[in-house]
Amino acid sequence: MKRTLFLLAFAATALFADNAKALFESKCMGCHIATKPTPELRAKMVAPPAFGVMFHVKERYKDRKDAIEFIVSYAMKPDRNKSVCMPRTIKRFGLMPSMKGSVSESELEAIAGYMYDNFPPEWFSHPKQSGGCNGKKGCASGSCGKNRG
Ligand code: HEC
Repeated sequence: MKRTLFLLAFAATALFADNAKALFESKCMGCHIATKPTPELRAKMVAPPAFGVMFHVKERYKDRKDAIEFIVSYAMKPDRNKSVCMPRTIKRFGLMPSMKGSVSESELEAIAGYMYDNFPPEWFSHPKQSGGCNGKKGCASGSCGKNRG
């Protein structure tokens, strides 16, 4: 299974490279904004920004293929026990709805690869990297606040 997913991810990356950004924008960006949230945007956010999500995904899954596998499986079947975001994130936004039916697995693999390669962008510096925000103002991702150690 792992291997199959990996091979699929590989094929999908090649096939959908050009398409991946557009897919991300149409399927995910409506909820996961791709920019830094302004205070206005932050107030309207319905999900953590893409860079915040990817910061936590990469923290847990160092390997590109493991990260992709996680994103695909989470988007198909969100589950709080699988979540790499802070418990606060789910509390604030609710559990992500399953994308099953609106996006195919191979599309998701392309999207996940795109997300891995592009988020977090260079301007992003997570408060955790400077000692943790612990709920302080200015928390960039809106999804941190608790140090996992
Ligand atoms: C309808 C809004 C919505 C859409 C569309 C959406 N998401 Fe989410 N997503 C959420 C919310 C809310 C959370 C935070 C709660 C959670 O983690 O379940 C989240 C969290 C996530 C997480 C982190 C999971 C975790 O908790 O560790 C990943 C990865 C993710 N989304 C991927 C995607 C991808 C890929 C797409 C596009 C195919 C997508 N999302 C589209 C609402 C959305």
